[in-house]
Amino acid sequence: MTEGAPAEAERVAGGRERVGVIGAGYVGLVTGVCLASMGYQVTLRDIDAAKVAALNDGQVPIYEPGLAELMEEHRERLTYTLSLERLLERSDIVFIAVDTPPSYSGDADLSRVMSVVDELEKVAGADARHVLVMKSTVPVGTGERVRAELDARGLADVGYCSNPEFLKEGAAIADFLRPDRVVIGSFDDAQGDRVAALYEPLGAPIIRTSVPSAEMVKYASNAFLATKISFINEIANVCEEVGADVDVVAAGMGLDSRIGRSFLRAGIGFGGSCFPKDVSALKQLAGNSGYHFQLLTSVIEVNELQKRRVIGKLKKHLGSLEGKRVALLGLAFKPGTDDMREASSLVLAARLLAEGAEVLAYDPVVDGGMDRLKGVAIRESAEEVVEGADAAVLVTEWDSIVGMDWAAVRESMRSPVLIDGRNALDPVEMMRLGYVFEGIGRLPAHVDVPS
Ligand code: UGA
Repeated sequence: MTEGAPAEAERVAGGRERVGVIGAGYVGLVTGVCLASMGYQVTLRDIDAAKVAALNDGQVPIYEPGLAELMEEHRERLTYTLSLERLLERSDIVFIAVDTPPSYSGDADLSRVMSVVDELEKVAGADARHVLVMKSTVPVGTGERVRAELDARGLADVGYCSNPEFLKEGAAIADFLRPDRVVIGSFDDAQGDRVAALYEPLGAPIIRTSVPSAEMVKYASNAFLATKISFINEIANVCEEVGADVDVVAAGMGLDSRIGRSFLRAGIGFGGSCFPKDVSALKQLAGNSGYHFQLLTSVIEVNELQKRRVIGKLKKHLGSLEGKRVALLGLAFKPGTDDMREASSLVLAARLLAEGAEVLAYDPVVDGGMDRLKGVAIRESAEEVVEGADAAVLVTEWDSIVGMDWAAVRESMRSPVLIDGRNALDPVEMMRLGYVFEGIGRLPAHVDVPS
């Protein structure tokens, strides 16, 4: 790979690298704002004119705790633009953080990544100074493909590294600034060194590897976490049959340091923009290379069934759901986000409507104005949504929902059936309050409650 001009190398070594971020979505914004908070000059580029205008106006287009404050605090180091040329002028290390949504086949759709390569060929200014850093989750092999495309289009001097993100929605800023690890895959050590240097101030372990291995770390991590969730969900289902309590089982397992305590919360399944998409992309990737990833097939199936199990629990207590009023408490795929992608609530609401139930819902952040919630009556408060309900389902464990006055809720419901889809409530306490209560793999409803 050709080295940058000596003057350029000196400038980079003497000063700080300037950062560019292509794609001001969730990952791009968090990356850009966090790097700005570390003292780097950051230019974010998006193709959505309304979004760029809003960002220039100081508005934050997504809900992520702490992001707006950090953005405001470091606004003098943040520039938002529609122009890729401007970004290239103003940056050395260029993160790519565009969407890679699932396609119909389950493969990741790389069209947005590839259109960045197309554009780089067309606009002036991409040269040896620049290292492209792939933040978007891309199938293993994408880096090699992008590298070949760059080389074929006269952009052989432009560097390329893979640096997957491990950000949890709702905790993304802490995850970025205090990471468990930073993974950097490179074709060229010097380019990897430049990306590693950006992160050094964080003091986290930095794994340096090849581009395909870095890409695989991301998929394997998400697939393993999803496997832990489906595993504990199946244990929960067995616990229901044998009268064991999955919370205790998970705590007992988790204290074994080889297992670990995290991601062993049983519930109504995982959702969000990452796990469902990445698990099926890895399964697909394996299949495309001739390997049938059997375990992941089950992880996906268990997750689908888990979302539907609530229906069975409701029917057990209410009989037919035709005309029954069911209140959904929470809609987002987890607390701390307004993200509804692959949220369990969507499947649950659709199944309930198909059973003829009247479905009402409340979420502190999601406003419900979406097509996939058609037929669901959205209420302004948790109290309103449970009023007169035949059953309530805790779908998202928001603090404000978990901390409700459950005695008052019990009074306002028509019948006191309560399903805790996130095991966030104390079953004994709920039964003492008079609920017909079920969690996921916790004490079965027929257990005698001590008075
Ligand atoms: C996930 C990963 O945790 C991040 O490390 C990764 O960077 C990110 O995907 C991504 O690939 O971008 P996220 O989707 O924001 O992050 O959410 P998680 O907090 O991991 O939760 C995912 C889902 O699993 C939620 O629906 C949650 O309710 C569920 N979950 C999580 C459980 O049902 N049980 C658990 O024990 C943990």
